[in-house]
Amino acid sequence: MSAKKILTTHKDTDFDPETFVSTYYSSVDGSEDYGDLMTFFLNGLSEAFRSGAISGVHLLDIGTGPMPHTAFCAAPWFEEITLSDVSQKNIEFLQKWKDGKINHMGPVLEYLVKLDKSSSSVEKRQDELRQKTKHIVKCDVTKENPVVSTPVDGIVFDAITSSLCLEIACLTLDDYAKSVGYMRNLLKPDGHLVLVGVLEDTFYTVGEYRFINLPIKKDELREIWQKEGFEILSLKDFNETCSSPKYGNDNSDFKNAFVMVAKKMANTI
Ligand SMILES: C[S@@+](CC[C@H](N)C(=O)[O-])C[C@H]1O[C@@H](n2cnc3c(N)ncnc32)[C@H](O)[C@@H]1O
Repeated sequence: MSAKKILTTHKDTDFDPETFVSTYYSSVDGSEDYGDLMTFFLNGLSEAFRSGAISGVHLLDIGTGPMPHTAFCAAPWFEEITLSDVSQKNIEFLQKWKDGKINHMGPVLEYLVKLDKSSSSVEKRQDELRQKTKHIVKCDVTKENPVVSTPVDGIVFDAITSSLCLEIACLTLDDYAKSVGYMRNLLKPDGHLVLVGVLEDTFYTVGEYRFINLPIKKDELREIWQKEGFEILSLKDFNETCSSPKYGNDNSDFKNAFVMVAKKMANTI
């Protein structure tokens, strides 16, 4: 049997949405390889939004990929949702999902609805998200104005969510800090940020491609967000939360992970 050939990349055109979904989101309790990482992320997202303390009119999800599950947690508390990604393939995939042609989030949404203990069904909640998703746009978080698509250009968002994107988009800590500043400019003062990510991770794979990651450490993460004008309200840590965290497999070499809730300080631009 020949060994699988892995190609190292940073190109968004090498990202295949279907392969990404089947590799990482086909189940929630996961395989031994992923330990409790998925449930850690989903519990953290559900907890961040469940109380309704984070709410408003406009929500932006940055680097949605093919998975709008982060916006799914936020949807009950917002009126208009914008999903965004740098990759055209992901934008087209999300549009098909919005049009009801793809239903690919079954296990994830079932788990989230169970966590919320809401009387609403997965179908109803997903329909709500589809209806509230008003824009699916191109976004490059490494650009000074990450979202330049009319009519989204110019909206100041009440909240921003982003999952597993910044450490992939930015290859150095300086670039990461710049992107945090660009995200801050999209957010209104006192607006909330809910960020999901991995720490000290150098790569993750999608099919035959190995995407390069910025191996950011927890202290660096905290320092950058605070310096860029955010108050960190909570920073949940995978290693501290899970009894037997598992990491370091063929798909990714992360050493830790986090779910962070922060607020843009009112006196920052
Ligand atoms: C690991 S996937 C995460 C997808 C989804 N948010 C999740 O949590 O499953 C990373 C996503 O970030 C997107 N991305 C990479 N660089 C980006 C950039 N510069 N601006 C916006 N999105 C970017 C990729 O296209 C991809 O969809």
